[in-house]
Amino acid sequence: MKIHEYQGKEILRRYGVPTPRGVPCFSVDEAVKAAEQLGGPVWVVKAQIHAGGRGKGGGVKVAKSIAQVREFAGAILGMQLVTHQTGPAGQKVRRLLIEEGADIRKELYVGMVVDRVTQRICLMASSEGGMDIEEVAAHAPEKIHKVFIDPATGLTDGDADEISRKIGIPEASLAGGRAALQGLYKAFWETDASLAEINPLIVTGSGQVVALDSKMNFDSNALFRHPDIVAMRDLDEEDPAEVEASKFDLSYISLDGNIGCLVNGAGLAMATMDTIKLFGAEPANFLDVGGGATTGEGDRGVQDHAQERQGQGHPGQHLRRHHALRHHRQRRRRGGAAGESLGPAGGAHARDQRRCRPPDPEGLRPPDHPGRQHRRCGEGNRRGGCGVNALTRLAPHHPAPRPSQTKETSCRF
Ligand SMILES: Nc1ncnc2c1ncn2[C@@H]1O[C@H](COP(=O)(O)OP(=O)(O)OP(=O)(O)O)[C@@H](O)[C@H]1O
Ligand SMILES: [Mg+2]
Repeated sequence: MKIHEYQGKEILRRYGVPTPRGVPCFSVDEAVKAAEQLGGPVWVVKAQIHAGGRGKGGGVKVAKSIAQVREFAGAILGMQLVTHQTGPAGQKVRRLLIEEGADIRKELYVGMVVDRVTQRICLMASSEGGMDIEEVAAHAPEKIHKVFIDPATGLTDGDADEISRKIGIPEASLAGGRAALQGLYKAFWETDASLAEINPLIVTGSGQVVALDSKMNFDSNALFRHPDIVAMRDLDEEDPAEVEASKFDLSYISLDGNIGCLVNGAGLAMATMDTIKLFGAEPANFLDVGGGATTGEGDRGVQDHAQERQGQGHPGQHLRRHHALRHHRQRRRRGGAAGESLGPAGGAHARDQRRCRPPDPEGLRPPDHPGRQHRRCGEGNRRGGCGVNALTRLAPHHPAPRPSQTKETSCRF
């Protein structure tokens, strides 16, 4: 699950990472009021969408007067912000962050991700922070330093200082660097994040170390432990069909192609997508109806799916039917009656889902699934881009792209 920059900064502040003062806003009047409250002389008007590259797309503007705050807020709010992660249609801006302007001496990059091979959190840091970090990773990877953090010790003072020095935090600011890095690590660990990135982490003119941006994604399997984070979910930023599917615990991901996939089992779904791409076409979606689906159910699913693709059905309609079919199947296996609580369903996939997922009374848990992982690793999705920015591409043992992942990527690196 993703959150906005201003929400990430709220979390960082709780862990002692300094950020500029800022106010989230939903209208131009609110933006002006926020700027007046914060006081001048410089404000930054920042689009809040779940995609990176906002600055380059015109979604981050420095204002030197209240009149300019009004002007920029009016221009950014409601715009279709197109960035390298949104796809050509862009993403509508519905929220702004009005923030006090910072006095930037240095822009640095720090980020964390879980490295699957070492099974440790990997801290990555670079002296070359800012909007061109992707270029650095592509052309000067030696400028990105890594630490694999031992969970028994956490990020030690020694490691924090060493990496701070490597990225050019001055000696006088080392204590600030340590607080920012250890705060980020603690925030990552305690919130069950899957990604946490501060780009840029700045050193100010007076030597303070401050997070000027924030990006956090969370492991959806752990969200039941964090109702405060679930409350930050912004459904406007998500694909409506995916939101609908998540209500039924279905693994559905919209993609850009034109061949619909309705498959029983995640492995088969991945193989199907690979096969489609191998023959030069593009999958329109990933939909796993569950490893235990029967022929009849699959047949019905295809009909529903076809109906949706022809515009005869509501996007959520076929998903509801699949959910009903699943429910029916599970009841039949147990010999239970409608409405009674379900025990373990047949099919390893369904069983796995039950094992690792606690009840979801709101029905709002985002789907977590190998298919979603597939997208994270490099398969471009229609909205919001890849959840993982710099980090998985930098992770040393990240597997080579599968055939289906080679064509285009919305990852930043
Ligand atoms: N509060 C601020 N004061 C001064 N400059 C700022 C402030 N916030 C952002 N900036 C400047 O704007 C640039 C872009 O901001 P930010 O990193 O938040 O957006 P972005 O990198 O384009 O977005 P994303 O991280 O989503 O790709 C920063 O590198 C920094 O130079
Ligand atoms: Mg940034």
